[in-house]
Amino acid sequence: MKNAVLLAACFLFLAVTVSAQNKAEYQNWMQTIRAAGRSLNENLEAKSGDAAAADAKKLQEVFSQVLAFWAKNNISDAMKFAMDAQSGFQEVAELASAGKFDEATEAVGKARTCGGCHSAHRERAEDGSYVMKY
Ligand code: HEC
Repeated sequence: MKNAVLLAACFLFLAVTVSAQNKAEYQNWMQTIRAAGRSLNENLEAKSGDAAAADAKKLQEVFSQVLAFWAKNNISDAMKFAMDAQSGFQEVAELASAGKFDEATEAVGKARTCGGCHSAHRERAEDGSYVMKY
């Protein structure tokens, strides 16, 4: 019993330190995602297949880190948003490499799970900054 309490305390401590440490890294991922998403849209519009595919691959990569983050915290709906984004951008990359720009643009719509996850897991603090909500 005493061990169980100690163990629980350790987990709590771990969870808190990990999230404090990861906050900056997480925000970095999101900024990378925003930049790559903009670049992807421009490259799809310009019909630059290779460049668009590279952007979509970058998004896929970063979303796999986002997925690992939520998986570590075992938050299943956020994992689903991240997974859908990851597989969605993989599809975008394949379509863009194949020069299928209309289909790729449509696939971007499906891959953009941003809003769903933000409304479930992001909250504005009183000072106007964002905080993560579990
Ligand atoms: C799995 C959940 C999830 C998905 C999917 C997601 N986000 Fe986020 N995003 C968050 C959370 C949580 C925060 C708040 C992080 C914080 O401030 O601690 C955030 C914050 C951000 C920020 C602000 C970063 C900063 O510097 O404070 C941007 C920009 C952003 N997201 C862009 C996007 C875009 C664009 C997409 C879709 C292509 C996306 N996100 C998809 C969860 C997600």
